[in-house]
Amino acid sequence: RANALRPRLPNITRRFSTVKASLEDDVRQDLNKLYETTPCMPIMVRLAWHDAGTYNATEKTGGANGSIRFNPEKSHGANSGLNIAMDLLQPIKDKYPNMSYADLYQLASVQAIEFSGGPKIPFRMGREDASEADCTPDGRLPDADKGMNHLRDIFYRMGFNDLEITTLSGAHTLGRAHPERSGFDGPWTKIPVVFDNSYYVEILKDEPDPDLLRLTSDLALLDSTETKALCEKYAADQDVFFEDYKVAHQKLSELGCFQ
Ligand code: HEM
Repeated sequence: RANALRPRLPNITRRFSTVKASLEDDVRQDLNKLYETTPCMPIMVRLAWHDAGTYNATEKTGGANGSIRFNPEKSHGANSGLNIAMDLLQPIKDKYPNMSYADLYQLASVQAIEFSGGPKIPFRMGREDASEADCTPDGRLPDADKGMNHLRDIFYRMGFNDLEITTLSGAHTLGRAHPERSGFDGPWTKIPVVFDNSYYVEILKDEPDPDLLRLTSDLALLDSTETKALCEKYAADQDVFFEDYKVAHQKLSELGCFQ
């Protein structure tokens, strides 16, 4: 009987993965349609990062589990404004109820980066949604007005290293700060709807562009010789930035998942 079943197994596997791939493709197409009419790519990247960035690698709590959609996490000061991103994604969730919120938030982010001219970030489906009880306490995301010691405390807790802190900070090539959300104001780069290496070019300038934002946490990357050298490398060679970014972002998008 086992032998009789064996030839069928590959077909079953193939059919299952086709279904999964087409759900992902369909959602990607709907995300593209959203981005064509509403250039909300930056806030989607921030939403996914704030959902995942609560991860504690020692405790194995937090991570890319969709818990950001529940209070109290949704109302944490760091998440101010992210209800806009969640509301924009809800019609897509309603259309594809089989996709978890956790997958949808992370897919919205990687698709936003690709849509904006950035790298194609490897993506896996299969994150499980957390329940309300899994909301993490406030204070797990970084403060913008603190330096490298603080960034290390926060990012090392998630399991990242200095290279990954420097690489992921480059996501500030997209979007801007809003006074009513964070108290800060303005974009980091001249074309904040394009994902490129201009974040590093701007923070390295001796004379800052008065129209652009530099947070204390951005400038902190220039404080250590190693992270500054990495900023210079990324500013000089976008392909190197994109290659490192793909790896770091996939890791961020899978914190606490697939274990
Ligand atoms: C926006 C802080 C890392 C992606 C912001 C804002 C602040 C901030 C204060 C402005 C929010 C607003 O007013 O709307 C920080 C700090 C970080 C950090 C202190 C520590 C290194 C990251 C990372 C990512 C990211 C790792 C993604 C991988 C973004 C994006 C925006 C943003 C895309 C723009 C959002 C929009 O335009 O609505 N960040 N961030 N940030 N952050 Fe970060």
